[in-house]
Amino acid sequence: MKLKPFALERWFGKYEFTVRYNIAESCIKPFTVSELEEICRCDLLRTEEISNLGYTDSRGAYELRDAVSKLYPGRTTDNVLITTGAIEANYLVFMALLQPGDVVITEFPAYQQLYEVPRALGSEVKTWNLRSESNYRPDISELDRMMATSDVKMIVINHPHNPTGASLDAGSMAAICEISEQCDAVLLSDEVYRGLTLVDGIATPSAQLFSDKAITVGSMSKAFGLSGLRIGWIVGPEDIIQKCWTIRDYTSICPSGPSQVMALSALKNIGTIMGRNTSLARKNFSILNQWISSNSDIVSWIPPCEGVVAFIKYNVDAGSLQVARELAEFDSVLVVPGECFEVEGYFRIGFGGDTDLLQAGLDLTAKRLRAM
Ligand SMILES: Cc1ncc(COP(=O)(O)O)c(C=O)c1O
Repeated sequence: MKLKPFALERWFGKYEFTVRYNIAESCIKPFTVSELEEICRCDLLRTEEISNLGYTDSRGAYELRDAVSKLYPGRTTDNVLITTGAIEANYLVFMALLQPGDVVITEFPAYQQLYEVPRALGSEVKTWNLRSESNYRPDISELDRMMATSDVKMIVINHPHNPTGASLDAGSMAAICEISEQCDAVLLSDEVYRGLTLVDGIATPSAQLFSDKAITVGSMSKAFGLSGLRIGWIVGPEDIIQKCWTIRDYTSICPSGPSQVMALSALKNIGTIMGRNTSLARKNFSILNQWISSNSDIVSWIPPCEGVVAFIKYNVDAGSLQVARELAEFDSVLVVPGECFEVEGYFRIGFGGDTDLLQAGLDLTAKRLRAM
């Protein structure tokens, strides 16, 4: 199995921890342990559960699987595998289910893992394009046509979407679930960005609501602001969970004990946590909105509907790598070049962080674009 370098991660590896204005992250501003302790009203690091630094149940702690299963009506602990982030969850699903020669349909643009790993496993990846003219909403009739022309093993979707922030309405999610069931294709729905709504009434529903056969991947990273815990999950049919579990014996053995304790505490206080996160995301979204309006001669967008990433089109005659590199090296501002998503003329901004830092980073970005 030969994996191509992960362009986004290589880009972050170069600048993430050295720039002053990191406005590239896809997560809401992360919590500190003491903030989490205040919300959970307990001394997390002194609890008996967290003091055990041994291996843990390789499926994930029962209590955490129980808390995760309750996020998806009708699912039980047997439908859940706790993983080391959503990245391991996706990886396990691909490793467990794909064979060389399988046909996989993946939305495009996409988080590179979602097409690169299937390709490295010898699958033929067909891209289902999301177009700005359609506000990055997937065209269901196009999926129908693609399904009719080949024997598809797996459909991979990701909504709310990275890098555009596009949501998926219930009708479209239901239709995708129905098509995958009718064609006997596995549906992998990467839902790591669910939970952070920017507009009242717009929220991507989980595929779990429409199909008992669908596989959903989620995590504590993006909407919860707890990426450092490295806790994710797979929710799906019991036989698929079992298959993924046997692969994880070769990847991480089991999830981190202390991280699971903190993840469980966060899930027990989900209302408070999501309240803080949603209000920060909406506040920063309005700042970004304002910035786009005041700089409409050099930038434009299809506004995101959920999550904290936005895909910005710029009106400057330079490649996205050059734009992002100049921002990083001359202005200490980090954005993600469109090239990391194989789309030129764009960069991705993450607006989930500190509000003042976002404003300063955006101002420097506009200045740099005007100077190019
Ligand atoms: C669509 C998507 N899936 C999965 C991941 C991995 O997330 P985690 O931090 O939970 O491993 C990311 C991270 O950027 C992502 O954008």
